[in-house]
Amino acid sequence: MKIVVIGGTGLIGSKVVEKLKAQGHEAVPAAPNTGVNTLTGEGLAEVLQGASVVVDVSNSPSFADDAVMEFFRTSTTNLLKAEAEAGVTHHVALSVVGTDRLQESGYFRAKQVQEDLIRESGMPYSIVHATQFFEFMNGIADLATEGDTVRVSSAGIQPIHSADVAAAVCRAAVGEPLDGVVEVAGPEAFRLDELIREVLAAGNDPREVVTDPRAPYSGAPLEENTLLPGPGARLAETRFADWLAQQK
Ligand SMILES: NC(=O)c1ccc[n+]([C@@H]2O[C@H](COP(=O)([O-])OP(=O)(O)OC[C@H]3O[C@@H](n4cnc5c(N)ncnc54)[C@H](OP(=O)(O)O)[C@@H]3O)[C@@H](O)[C@H]2O)c1
Repeated sequence: MKIVVIGGTGLIGSKVVEKLKAQGHEAVPAAPNTGVNTLTGEGLAEVLQGASVVVDVSNSPSFADDAVMEFFRTSTTNLLKAEAEAGVTHHVALSVVGTDRLQESGYFRAKQVQEDLIRESGMPYSIVHATQFFEFMNGIADLATEGDTVRVSSAGIQPIHSADVAAAVCRAAVGEPLDGVVEVAGPEAFRLDELIREVLAAGNDPREVVTDPRAPYSGAPLEENTLLPGPGARLAETRFADWLAQQK
């Protein structure tokens, strides 16, 4: 089966391409540096020729509110139109657990628009909602840094290894369209402030982590359960501590 992976050169996309190829599929990475740009439409019709499934694991190069909205709105619109013209029969997209609860964030408003465009397109689809990647914990710290202080809340977080996310995306890609959402998360929940302290300590990072219940996440306030998966989520196996130990 030919499966085109938009963002197939990224953290998740490169693992998805590798796994699908190992399963015997014709997995084609598509990204600006392979000549495919979903924002401009460049190379889209060509790469989609003969494809049955499209996996979208792309991300906006800029997280500024306007830029990220423009990215997900325009690229998803272009992609869904080109898929319909090429006879694609399944669109798979990666989004984030709790997207609908994080609408005070510009990034998550853009992810919500991406999801809504997919739901309203008429194209059979599967949306994979993942929790935060283990690899993104330093990014969370950086986003919450002022001077030498990292200000984060003590809300729950249940992060997942990128390889486990890629496996979930591959399962969706080779399965029947869900016309709905499947949630995936790591095996254990933590408190965000404690997890960030642990990650910084492991990297000998001197920044001080201050617990602040009002500290936003990507611009949105957090309740205890905002980032946590629901009861029906599929839990992956890789444990955070095992992954962190391998980073040293
Ligand atoms: N970070 C998290 O914790 C988290 C959690 C859940 C879900 N997600 C979602 O996971 C997805 C993938 O994240 P990631 O960290 O794997 O992303 P990433 O490593 O930043 O990769 C982004 C990919 O998008 C491609 N891309 C950028 N602009 C493009 C364009 N105009 N046309 C086509 N492709 C384009 C990039 O190609 P180039 O390399 O050529 O620029 C790259 O292959 C995102 O949608 C994100 O919302 C993230």
